[in-house]
Amino acid sequence: MEQQLTQIKEDALTAIKAAGDLNELNEQRVKYLGKKGSLTAILRGMGKVSPEDRPRIGQLVNDVRSELEASLENRQSALKADELSTRLATEKIDVTLPGRRHEIGHLHPLTLTLNKLKGIFRNMGYSIAEGPQIETDYFNFEALNLPKDHPARDMQDSFYITEDILMRTQTSPVQARTMQAHEPNSPIRIIAPGRVFRRDDYDATHSPMFTQVEGLCIDKNISFSDLKGTLTTAMRQLFSDDLDLRFRPSFFPFTEPSAEVDITCVMCHGKGCRVCKGTGWLEILGSGMVHPHVLEMSGYDPHKVSGFAFGLGVERIAMLSYGIEDLRLFFDNDARFLKQF
Ligand code: PHE
Repeated sequence: MEQQLTQIKEDALTAIKAAGDLNELNEQRVKYLGKKGSLTAILRGMGKVSPEDRPRIGQLVNDVRSELEASLENRQSALKADELSTRLATEKIDVTLPGRRHEIGHLHPLTLTLNKLKGIFRNMGYSIAEGPQIETDYFNFEALNLPKDHPARDMQDSFYITEDILMRTQTSPVQARTMQAHEPNSPIRIIAPGRVFRRDDYDATHSPMFTQVEGLCIDKNISFSDLKGTLTTAMRQLFSDDLDLRFRPSFFPFTEPSAEVDITCVMCHGKGCRVCKGTGWLEILGSGMVHPHVLEMSGYDPHKVSGFAFGLGVERIAMLSYGIEDLRLFFDNDARFLKQF
């Protein structure tokens, strides 16, 4: 019996030392100390030991048990420590490696230009109005003094959705919408930025979709000089203090008189270059005094109030501001282009 115990002890101690991981160690624990373990078997067999040997053998079994438990405990801590250091080694994070950067986006050059325009007009007391991109024939044309079959409709080839609904060809319908949303004859100072659509080519200078900013100012005694003053202030703030404006007589059905506005070429400062085709001037917007009929159709009385309106192309202004030569760059969404602003 004693010999057997010694044998078990030695075998167990060797096996415990040899256990390579916690699983193996647990197998050894079961093998020797488990319910069916060899040491447990000896304890069970104590009945067969003679009463005078029993205390001594009992003591011995307990000693062996304690020794094995202690050894298991030691080995377990050692294995756990090993495991931890292996994990620490394999799961090591090199904090000196550069992180994965998330690129921060930024505003599109057209948005930047729009923001600048909005800021300029906001400072002059204008608020921002908006209208739908899908518009009725009534607001896009009729309320702007372009009755059906008016020849001036040909200037703006449109995308029709039905006979009476189309993609708006200009932001001018917001003029009529704004007037009709106001008390008749109450003053208005708005700009209306937004996209417009025309059946057109897609090349360096044309696009079937582009962006306009409409302006409308109505009040008592608004005159052409107010239009000139407002646009001169706005264009100087937008480009530079020293530019001049040139008003050329023109025609729009909804303004009378109408004028195309040119500014001193921002590229050559009026000397004449490729961009202004040698003229020193750049055509920049359309404008005029709101036609009495347009006021009347939207409930305003042309004998009591008057107003001016203008419309400018945002892409054109952005191209001039940033020296961009191809209109398509705004819409292609090539990050290499967009990153530059
Ligand atoms: N809506 C005109 C266009 O798209 C521009 C304009 C607006 C002209 C307001 C006069 C007054 O060509």
